[in-house]
Amino acid sequence: MTLTFDEKTRSSSNFFNNKGGADECLIIIFGGSGDLAKRKLFPALGNLMFKKMMPAKFQIIAVGRKPMETKELLSMAKYPADFDKHFLYLHTDYSPAGIQKLKETCERVCKETGIPPNYLLYLAIPPQGYAEVALALKQGGMVHPPRGGNWSRLVVEKPYGKDIGSATVLNENLLSCFAEKQIYRIDHYLGKESVQNLLVFRFANSVFEAIWNHNYIEHVQISHSEFLGAEDRAEYFDQAGLLRDMIQNHLMQILCLVTMEPPVGLSADSIRDEKVKVLRSLRPLDLEAKPPVAVRGQYGAGIIKEKPVIAYREGKGIKAESSTETFVAMRMNIDNFRWAGVPFYLRSGKRLGRKGTEVVVTFKKLPRILFNKPGVALASNRIVFKIQPQEAILLELTTKNPGQSFELSDTSMNFCYSDHFDTSADAYERLLLDAVLGDPTLFVRSDETELSWKFLDPLLKNWGSTPAGSSFPNYAAGSEGPADATRVLLSNSEGEPTEWIDFAKYDNVCPSPTDAATSPNGPRP
Ligand code: BG6
Repeated sequence: MTLTFDEKTRSSSNFFNNKGGADECLIIIFGGSGDLAKRKLFPALGNLMFKKMMPAKFQIIAVGRKPMETKELLSMAKYPADFDKHFLYLHTDYSPAGIQKLKETCERVCKETGIPPNYLLYLAIPPQGYAEVALALKQGGMVHPPRGGNWSRLVVEKPYGKDIGSATVLNENLLSCFAEKQIYRIDHYLGKESVQNLLVFRFANSVFEAIWNHNYIEHVQISHSEFLGAEDRAEYFDQAGLLRDMIQNHLMQILCLVTMEPPVGLSADSIRDEKVKVLRSLRPLDLEAKPPVAVRGQYGAGIIKEKPVIAYREGKGIKAESSTETFVAMRMNIDNFRWAGVPFYLRSGKRLGRKGTEVVVTFKKLPRILFNKPGVALASNRIVFKIQPQEAILLELTTKNPGQSFELSDTSMNFCYSDHFDTSADAYERLLLDAVLGDPTLFVRSDETELSWKFLDPLLKNWGSTPAGSSFPNYAAGSEGPADATRVLLSNSEGEPTEWIDFAKYDNVCPSPTDAATSPNGPRP
């Protein structure tokens, strides 16, 4: 049966919690005149309203330090009819006096509309401001006790700190104002349908569980590539770098979903407990290992979609000698019973020659008899999860060519989401709705963030203290990344070299999506 969009989205949004309708509430967005709010949050809320998925009564209060009229803010995009009735802009700062002004506005709105004082407090502001705003909210009386009649929930965007030290301090600061269950740390990859489907694929299909381990799996590659460079986010990106920007969060979250044990239930904590076990089982990075566990890169000038683009170091706001990495390739090991000896390769880069995110599980080969003979080695079976831009699952097999002899071909069974479902909801829609519903399953718990920072900390320190100098740039914009990326790959269990998978071969297996991008960076280029 093909579900209609609303039915599908509703059923999926209730999949994990099944708790029905959302409470009436105020959605308070700090950084309300900022880029994220305008580009992602307001449109997502508009879409949810249009799909009748918001509570019967709700009010959005966009809070910003920029003097602006509500009308002016709304005129910057197209929203569904009556969206303006649920929206107001409040010009104020985040000082105690500013928060007092916000509180009075909230009380007035609640009185006028009959909405109970349930507050979804979304921090779409630079992370340096998180602790200050959380404290001001607490002191200003906007944080309800975690087990009261009305609720307060804090939604925070990444980055949560820049290393284990700052992440721990940030968690301590937030947890001194809100209980853990009141904090919703966004990782927009968890809002992507095809990322959530990793759990369903693994735990709703009996055929794969028996082979999902080191006995059958040779290695796993998780790759993300994009056309975009640092562009107008240079100030943030040059401080952060790719390891913090993509690996610590999005790619390591995918790694957890691909490798975690079955949770005892579908509650948020059951799932997050299993992800935490994976993070705890990661083998500490050996920076002396040969071949190396990690390789970094930075793009030089090149061609993206037939247009010349400048080198990273020439970008506005970037230091001329910047050692910030725009590409990372890594090898990780999970030292537990299921994954002993299986290498996990993670790779992510900006300004590459294609846009895409994929997980490829490569299976071990059969004994070298029958068809898999010396000299005529068969291709490995693979399961490919295409996360974006097309959403798909492919199973690569070997089959017999029609005819009298045993001539074999590599074939693929392809499941394209677009063949079965009309469209897929934007990640921010899903995540905002979950936060309104009070379902934290797709948000990151404090121990997850701390464990992933702890794991990467030695590498962050090492790269931070060893300038790349003239070894950067080491790949051209529009290429596949630095040639050095292959250095992290080990030989397989048969002693054959492993290669990075050429994902371009999967690019056209499904039609391209027509729906909006799920990226906080806006529409896909
Ligand atoms: C963001 C990063 O979290 O994810 C960006 O800060 C990156 O640098 C983006 O471009 C990628 O998201 P997506 O959904 O486009 O893959």
